[in-house]
Amino acid sequence: MNKNYYITTPIYYPSAKPHMGHAYSSIIADFFARLKRIQGFNVYFLTGTDEHGQKIQRAAKEKKMDPLLFCNEISKTFRDLSDTLNLSNNDFIRTTESRHARSVENLWNILEKKGEIYLSKYSGWYSVSDEAFYTESEIEDLDGTKKAITSGSKVEWVEEESYFFRLSNWQDKLIEFYDKNPDFILPETRKNEVVSFVKSGLKDLSVSRKSFNWGIKVPSNKEHVIYVWLDALTNYLSALNYPNENDNLYKSFWPADLHLIGKDILRFHAIYWPAFLLAANINPPKRVFGHGWILSGDEKMSKSKGNILDPLEIIDTYGLDPLRYYLIKEVSFGNDGNISQDKLESCINSDLANNYGNLCQRVLAFCDKNSNFEVPDYDNFTDDDILILDQYSKHYENLIKYSDDQEVNLYINFIVEQLFAANKYFNDQEPWKKKNDKFRMNTIIYVALELIRKVTILLYPIIPSSSLKVLKIFGIKEDKINFESIRDNNYLRKGLKLSKLDILFKKIEKK
Ligand code: ME8
Ligand code: MG
Repeated sequence: MNKNYYITTPIYYPSAKPHMGHAYSSIIADFFARLKRIQGFNVYFLTGTDEHGQKIQRAAKEKKMDPLLFCNEISKTFRDLSDTLNLSNNDFIRTTESRHARSVENLWNILEKKGEIYLSKYSGWYSVSDEAFYTESEIEDLDGTKKAITSGSKVEWVEEESYFFRLSNWQDKLIEFYDKNPDFILPETRKNEVVSFVKSGLKDLSVSRKSFNWGIKVPSNKEHVIYVWLDALTNYLSALNYPNENDNLYKSFWPADLHLIGKDILRFHAIYWPAFLLAANINPPKRVFGHGWILSGDEKMSKSKGNILDPLEIIDTYGLDPLRYYLIKEVSFGNDGNISQDKLESCINSDLANNYGNLCQRVLAFCDKNSNFEVPDYDNFTDDDILILDQYSKHYENLIKYSDDQEVNLYINFIVEQLFAANKYFNDQEPWKKKNDKFRMNTIIYVALELIRKVTILLYPIIPSSSLKVLKIFGIKEDKINFESIRDNNYLRKGLKLSKLDILFKKIEKK
């Protein structure tokens, strides 16, 4: 079995500092990276910034800055955000790095040599904000301004000499590829959109620009810069040291297991990217998942709309793990979602403080008082004990399936159910009334400790630093977390001295 797993975030445009939407993509990707790691996979997790093209060049110009210096500055805010979000990424790639230019030039040369690229002239609409070409039917006139219908961004007329990629030749091959790989695009509804778009006919794609120079030059014609999307998509290969196909990273991790992206950039990842790769005789990635948008009111939160919520401020006020938990649980994965301080506070109180935090605190306090803060020796399990402990082995295969199918909400719903069940178990068993039956009391403590251990392992990919605090009381270190051990009902060794747990989540007084 192949135990390697390569997961990527989109590489973000450093045209302005990051907002909640970017944090969302990154947090979800980190959730999967950590989840697969504790399942024993050798995970490579990549994120970074997409620094070329007209959009960035214009943003730099507005600030009267050299584009590279401008990118250095803003790319750093994305890198810092990765740290603040506690991302477990293995690399952070910038498309202005020479390792990336080498990789893009190589891919270009292959495509050109194979006759997949030819020189002609482009005349049509272009959105700098989306870095995308649009046909007449994809734009509308709003009060005299031409805008792309899907994104609402302004388009401008472009007429210039351009290299083209023979995308039209790949229409049938793409359909065949989607048929053979029915889970290549998820969720299903998005897949259907893509397939019908491809079936409606593909035109050749303009893949170079001549009217500005901020980008990677076409190797055979330095008057042209390579289209920023051909450049950007290739980052996924560059980070594995492509074009060195004998490199260990490349051999181990290509094709990627999961490109996690927002639905706004599905067309690039699900059509152009596999077409470029098939044309270059490179295997396409295994899956592209297009998640929904974090909205502000009814609109997509975006820098160009200026309606953004700063993740740093939220983290400052509430802490990181509550934000991660909220985004993973409260946004239905694949659909659009909302975040407000009010909803976040309710979620912290009900799920984190009352449900999880409370379970940990009361069980540990009881254990401290009644079993010397040690894992007690226990008697035989009763049916009630076994029923609740066995939920984890019973649902084990499902949980693995949720991880592989990106069923984020099913995964976390199982956790929430188990938290309720564990609290209820402790209430119903009333260990405080069993002081005359020391063995039964100890058994209840033992079961409750096992339940905390199991659910905390499941929570680790969602709220890593809080989970680590809890696992630490059992002496379980990060690199020893083993997903499979949730099936074990007798993991904790009797006599193990537990250590103190600070308050995990403070309840928020609501106004
Ligand atoms: O598109 N809600 O970069 P980008 C959820 N450089 N996710 C959001 C979001 C929102 N409101 N706004 C942004 C680009 N995102 C290209 C990608 S990849 C080879 C090149 C997320 O900075 C979403 O995943 O405009 C989106 O796809 C990503 O940020 C990149 O946005
Ligand atoms: Mg965007």
